[in-house]
This record gives sequence, structure tokens and C-alpha cells, in this order.
Amino acid sequence: MGRLDVRVKTEFSAKAYSIGKGEERRKNIIVKELSLSGALVQGLPDAGELFRIKMKLPTGSKVELDAEIVRVENGMTGLRLYYPDSFTMKKLWSSIRDDLSVHGICPYCGSTNSNGAGSCSACGYSLSFEDINYLKNHFKTTFLSRLESRVSKLDAEHLEKIINVIDREVLLSKGKPPEEEFVGTSPAMLEVFTMIRKVAPTDVNVLILGESGTGKELTARAIHERSPRREKPFIAVNSAAIPEGLLESELFGHEKGAFTGAYAARKGKFEQADGGTLFLDEIGDLPQGLQSKLLRFLEDRIVERVGGQGGKKVDVRIVTATNCDLEHMIEEGSFRQDLYFRLDGFTILLPPLRNRGEDNVILARFFLEKISRNENCPSRTFSDETLEVIRKYPWPGNVRELINKVRRGILMAQGSEICSADMGLQDAEIEMEECPMKRQVSKTQKEMIVKTLQDNNYVITRTAKALGISRPSLYSLMKKYSIARGNGKAHKGL
Ligand SMILES: Nc1ncnc2c1ncn2[C@@H]1O[C@H](COP(=O)(O)OP(=O)(O)O)[C@@H](O)[C@H]1O
Ligand SMILES: [Mg+2]
Repeated sequence: MGRLDVRVKTEFSAKAYSIGKGEERRKNIIVKELSLSGALVQGLPDAGELFRIKMKLPTGSKVELDAEIVRVENGMTGLRLYYPDSFTMKKLWSSIRDDLSVHGICPYCGSTNSNGAGSCSACGYSLSFEDINYLKNHFKTTFLSRLESRVSKLDAEHLEKIINVIDREVLLSKGKPPEEEFVGTSPAMLEVFTMIRKVAPTDVNVLILGESGTGKELTARAIHERSPRREKPFIAVNSAAIPEGLLESELFGHEKGAFTGAYAARKGKFEQADGGTLFLDEIGDLPQGLQSKLLRFLEDRIVERVGGQGGKKVDVRIVTATNCDLEHMIEEGSFRQDLYFRLDGFTILLPPLRNRGEDNVILARFFLEKISRNENCPSRTFSDETLEVIRKYPWPGNVRELINKVRRGILMAQGSEICSADMGLQDAEIEMEECPMKRQVSKTQKEMIVKTLQDNNYVITRTAKALGISRPSLYSLMKKYSIARGNGKAHKGL
């Protein structure tokens, strides 16, 4: 039988710290081979110990994980790796995948009859390593073999514990829609995930800040899903999307006859969310009168319906979000400071997508796969040029914009590859990397544009025609290279 994990030859240094042995010992090691389940390293001679390994992978990601020595031979030490979370595993997998060269030989069973794509004809394992779901599918395929190799080492007591855990998980997951996946491997997002995990089990009010499309609502849902309130409702209200006149009764409900058209009494969102979480999105748009009413609620937890007498005690956790600068609004007098202090029990700041390193490509692949699957489209890949554009584009509309562009790419692509034009990114303003060749290309391009502008007396239509590009492209190139329109002089005939 072949391996269950692919293994690559590599060579980089890392640090190993012994754990559970009193004084800490550090050793510099060299990683020579790496797979998801283990590593072969040089520089760790003692058998039977546990180590914490810190390594900077060839991809540039840093990971920290525990490792156990399983064998020592010829100066090399074999380690079994233990993952603290799935993100660490994904980072390691990215690095292994980059180093994989299949070259017609299956990295699982070593047979030479495989063609380096699809599945190996001998062992049947998938060789589509670029597929975003590759790892998940591979774990499913090899699950029983992995389980068998581990279970054989356990005693009856352990097995009983495991069966109890499985039964409970099955019970809990019955009838629940699957959680939306929250994707991210950049340090900034790992920090956000840690904050979500820490704050979720408490009842603290959470304020989520971030640009539009960064995942504020997804964060609010993730907090609810990980809280003891998860079996109760999660109710989201967008303060900016509901007309001011209706917002109060929407939030707090109303009694019959409270206003014209109130034919029957109605529960508001606070009451609907009783026992669960109320997510108030765009809290910066909450009108002043309702800011006071919300503050009163936060003080006594009593909801008073419009037109009602007396109130009702309601138990909700409040999570709010905004992309407004609330502190500036407080200075201006448009947002109550006392309300801000109440809402801001714990702040989570979502970084814009442009500050999340490789997450742009990881998210693009994730949505390519997800949308293609949900909408039954043939599976496509991004061309190398598109991946480069995805990396460099600043994504002002963040993840929401990325989803829209990926969807467009899937619809517009002609062949099996999606190019940047299919996604509407061909003229995107992208910062060129400062490598000498690209610098030279930029310099030549700028000189050519300036000269053509001069030759055509700065008339944009003529210049664009002479250069063979569209007017919008010329404008965007002039903006990119800071070329003034005729040294500031106005020109007619544009
Ligand atoms: N890290 C992420 N992983 C997966 N999907 C994401 C991520 N961030 C945002 N999304 C998706 O992007 C869209 C916009 O996110 P949303 O939470 O509505 O943003 P915001 O409330 O900040 O405007 C939603 O469809 C959401 O599920
Ligand atoms: Mg939102």
C-alpha cells in the first residue's frame, strides 16, 4: 500500500524547543523532508521526546506546532506532527504543494503510469493538488485508514470517550444548516479568529469595525455560532436599510393601534432575538432618538413596544458593526458617547483584504470552487496572469467585490482558464512590483505617452488613437504616471 501523505524533499532551518522537561532546551534543526503527518529533520538526536517546532516555511508563512520523535536513524530524526488548528495545517499544505513535482510519478504509490493530473490509475488517489478542496477530499478518502492506524494504539476507555464525543456532535449537528466557512490564513485574520474564539463564549457586547465587504456580518454570525446562544435565534438588522420612521417599531415592536396601519401587535427584533444574538449592522446610521432608546435598553434590558405601556425583559447579546468613524461622530455630536462605551465591550477590527497577504488568492480559489459547484458550472482555473492580478489588485470593495469578480470570471470565461479580462480586471490599477524589468517597462511606457501627448498637442482623443488604446485607458495611465494634461493648460476637443 502507498503512503497516505505526499512527502517532499526540502531544506530549511527551524527551531525545536523541548517541552514538558523542566528547563527549556532549544535546538537548531534542518528540515529535509516534509509531509502533512511528519518531517525528517537533522539535529535532533534524542528519541522519545516532545518538541515545539517553530518554522518559517519556504512560502514565507510561519508555523508553530508540536512534534514527537518517532524514529532516529543515520543522524536523521523522523517526527510526527500535531496541529494546533486547521490553519496551521493549511499553511503547511501550501508549502508542500508548492514543492510538489509529480512528473508522471504518483507521489502516493510511486507508480509511473499516472499522467500527473486527475487521479492516479494505480492507487486511485486524486492528483489535483491545486484544487481548493483537495485536502478535504483526500482526508475523506483516506479517513478510515488514518483512523485505523490511530485507534489500534488506544485502550477501551479512550475509545469510549471518542464514541461519546462523536455521538454528541451528531446530535448537535442534526437539523442545523452548515456553517458558512470563514476563510483566512494571514496573521491579521488568524488574530481575528482568535478574538472570535475568545469573546464568543461570553455575553460581552462586541463592536466590529471594518470597511464594507470585509466580513463584519460573517464575524457576527461566527460569534453567535460559537456562543452558548447558538441554538437560539441570530437576528440581523441593518439600521441604514430601514426608513427612519419604521426603524423603531421594527426594532422594538408595536402594540395594536400604536399608529395608522398598526392593525395588530407585532414583536420587534429585540423580542425575536430573545435568548440569542441581535446584530445591529451600520450602527453609525442609527438615528439619535433610537440611540437613546437603545442605551436605555442596555441599562435595564427591558423592551418597550411603540404605543405600549410598561415593558418586557429580554435577554439578548448585542453585536454591532459599522464602517463609520464613531469617534469622529462623537466629536461631531452625531453619536452618543455613553452608547459607544456600552456597545464597545470588545472591539474586533477586520483588516481590508489588501492587507491580508495571500488571502486574496486563497479566497479567490475558494469562491471559484464554491460558485462553480453551487451553480453547476464546469470547473475552471485562474490563469497565471489572473493570479498575479488578483495578488496585486487593491480590492477596494474587499471580499464582496472579490466574490462578484470571480462570479463574473466564471460566466465570461471562454475556455478552461479565467483571464483577468473575464473578471473585469484588465484595466485595473495595479501597483507594479519594483523589479528592474518592470521599472524599465514603466519608464518606456511613460516616455511614449508623454511624447505622443506632445505630438498631438495634448488632445486626448487623438493621443489615445495614436497609441492604439481607449480614452479611459489613457486617462488611467496618465493618472498612474502622474502625467499632467498639458502642463496644467486647458485643452479643448477632449
Ligand atoms: N474571510 C471570508 N471568508 C469567506 N467569505 C467571506 C469572508 N469575508 C467575507 N466573506 C463573504 O463576503 C461577503 C461580504 O461579507 P459581509 O460579512 O457581508 O461584509 P460586511 O458586513 O463587512 O460588508 C459575504 O458573502 C461573506 O460571506
Ligand atoms: Mg454588512
